[in-house]
Amino acid sequence: MPGFTAADVPDLSGRTYVVTGANTGLGFEAARVLAGRGGEVVLACRSEDKARAAMAKILEETPGAKLDFAELDLGDLEAVKQAAESLSQRENLDVLVNNAGVMIPPLSHTEQGFELQFGVNHLGTFALTSLLLPKLAEGKDPRVVVTSSIAHRSGQAVWSDPKAEEDYARGQRYSDSKLANALFFVELARRLSAIGSPVMSVGCHPGVASTELGRHVGIANLAMKFVGMVLNTAEQGAWPTLQAATGPEVANGDYYGPRGLREMSGPSGRAFLTRLARDPGAGEWLWKRSVELTGVDPELLPA
Ligand SMILES: NC(=O)c1ccc[n+]([C@@H]2O[C@H](COP(=O)([O-])OP(=O)(O)OC[C@H]3O[C@@H](n4cnc5c(N)ncnc54)[C@H](OP(=O)(O)O)[C@@H]3O)[C@@H](O)[C@H]2O)c1
Repeated sequence: MPGFTAADVPDLSGRTYVVTGANTGLGFEAARVLAGRGGEVVLACRSEDKARAAMAKILEETPGAKLDFAELDLGDLEAVKQAAESLSQRENLDVLVNNAGVMIPPLSHTEQGFELQFGVNHLGTFALTSLLLPKLAEGKDPRVVVTSSIAHRSGQAVWSDPKAEEDYARGQRYSDSKLANALFFVELARRLSAIGSPVMSVGCHPGVASTELGRHVGIANLAMKFVGMVLNTAEQGAWPTLQAATGPEVANGDYYGPRGLREMSGPSGRAFLTRLARDPGAGEWLWKRSVELTGVDPELLPA
């Protein structure tokens, strides 16, 4: 099946990528390939030990790979602000790959009290991206990549209870957080293009790939281990991320995912977004709500 794979990633010498959640799963695979093609990669992770172990594995494959670590906990907006401040002080930063995420954990909350999936997957990502936009605007072919999911299709645009004080349907909350990821990158693309910003906002999803994402529920964890045999390995699941982050054909607002049956597996290409995910009213509403909840208002700079 034709489509974008790791073999299509161009030479990335002289470019710097920040990958969130790069210590394992899709983030690790994306970081490994980006570094292998000559890019400088900053692994933005909450555990320095896990990030350094991941860096050691990449260095085994690519001796001399340009790697760095940035401490990032998306579940704490103060920590996100600190991470953004230190990342902004780097000499170069061209692409932010928002990959880190959490799926169907038992009811838990971020430092600021938001339900974990909405808080980490969307609010943390929204805040980090917003704070890095001015730095990215100085980059070469600058991009923001946001990782959504097929699950965005069952998301409902209802964020009236962001702390899950009334109920907690964990699967629905995951879908809602992935719809928020989709609404966010689409709305960001709209706003960037309206001001002629050089930064592109691009979405992606991996289909279904074998990673640690099911770690919070025994049966999901077990299923994820077998997924690689029939659907995507983590390596294959990272192809849409790599296309969004590096593909020369990519345009602002594009969305990439696997091209196989029901977008579950295979090489990457343009993917399907629901009408709700593209709805400007819903996108604008979520944007304003995210500003209110995070206290971070994106600074969009024109070209
Ligand atoms: N795998 C799939 O089939 C699939 C399908 C659709 C979408 N996705 C999306 O793909 C992305 C990557 O997931 P994955 O499958 O690679 O899962 P994974 O193997 O569980 O990796 C998730 C990564 O996110 C990090 N992370 C979690 N909470 C964090 C926090 N509070 N702050 C910073 N980092 C945090 C994890 O760090 P620790 O290791 O320290 O916890 C880990 O590095 C997610 O956004 C997920 O929703 C995956």
